[in-house]
Amino acid sequence: AIETVTARPVIDSRGNPTVEVDVVLADGSLGRAAVPSGASTGAREAVELRDADPTRWHGKGVDRAVAHVNGEIATSVRGRDAADQEGLDAALVALDGTATKSRLGANAILGVSLATAKAAAAAHRRPLYRHLGGAGARLLPLPMMNIVNGGAHADNPLDYQEFMIAPVGADTFAEAVRMGSEIFHTLRRDLLDAGHSTAVGDEGGFAPALRTAEEALDFVTAAIERTGYRPGTDVGLVMDPASSEFFRDGMYDYAGEGVRRTPSEHADHLAGLIDTYPIVSVEDPMAENDLDGWRELTARVGDRCQLTGDDVFCTNETLLREGIRTGVGNSVLVKVNQIGTLTEALAAVDTAHRAGWTAVMSHRSGETEDTTIADLAVATGCGQIKTGSLSRSDRTAKYNQLMRIEEELGASARFAGRSALRRA
Ligand code: PGA
Ligand code: ZN
Repeated sequence: AIETVTARPVIDSRGNPTVEVDVVLADGSLGRAAVPSGASTGAREAVELRDADPTRWHGKGVDRAVAHVNGEIATSVRGRDAADQEGLDAALVALDGTATKSRLGANAILGVSLATAKAAAAAHRRPLYRHLGGAGARLLPLPMMNIVNGGAHADNPLDYQEFMIAPVGADTFAEAVRMGSEIFHTLRRDLLDAGHSTAVGDEGGFAPALRTAEEALDFVTAAIERTGYRPGTDVGLVMDPASSEFFRDGMYDYAGEGVRRTPSEHADHLAGLIDTYPIVSVEDPMAENDLDGWRELTARVGDRCQLTGDDVFCTNETLLREGIRTGVGNSVLVKVNQIGTLTEALAAVDTAHRAGWTAVMSHRSGETEDTTIADLAVATGCGQIKTGSLSRSDRTAKYNQLMRIEEELGASARFAGRSALRRA
């Protein structure tokens, strides 16, 4: 049973405060979880409670969320069975009482939800992926490694937020990491030789002053080749334009490129990129408020490219069900803090899988050393993870945890590879 619940503010990868929670059970088992934070957030995400006191932390303090955990939440969950995750999460949702977790804060609630799962795993002396996923949890995810950063994650002119590599031809997760690291270093050299900055953005990818998606894709494709891999065959390309960020007044405003595109011009542009480059997946190709655009693009390229909804679904099962019903993409991005409890995040994966959709476990641009999502990727068997570049410990911590899990599973480990991009 849960004995104590304690929260504190800690610092995230952008230097902003976030909530960390310790849950201790009666037998002494400890679960600890730190909550991530986004920059390009979806409008329908669960509410991250910030103090909004401009004299402290530039308004980003989490003292109220921490106080909610240490006060009201701790009092109400004390004595609960930590193994009953669904019961705990339902109780937290009910205690908050709002549809968006705005009263207690999704950051307060998620910290308790995840820390309790980890405490329960510790009590059973089981790793988290096994505790949540059972004995059948042995599929290591295909990583989508974000090696060029733009948009809201960097101060360069690139309109699209993320350019990623997915080592679809690797045989193991560890091999995928090695391939990614090699390509990352080739890209660094290539950017340097071309006179570009090799400083990195929020997710550890380079943030050179490129203007167009084509320039970024050309650099990444060349780096794959120069490292000795075949673009498309060994390593696929993945993009997250984060299109909601530059959709204004019904137009896609490419400020870096200096062009405004109508929704159909934007879709044409993306379809052209998908036909020209070995792109296997695009996240948020269209804005969260451009559902017509989403449906058009899905009908047009959905048979040959994974189209993953991030802002448009916000890991929210209700929004996801509606998207599945109406043909908005074919895949869901899963970010635990977009919805605020572990149970609801797992439900989103389950709903996607039941519909024959894929699900991609994901970090946020503001992260910590917490590696829970690595275990969640294996526990759900979702087969894909996006957790940043091959630099910055807030990103590599997740890859390192997955390599440990692969080692622990030994001969029973499976690596998803290219097959992860399609279900059934
Ligand atoms: P965010 O970015 O965490 O800043 O929202 C990640 C993403 O858009 O996928
Ligand atoms: Zn995204």
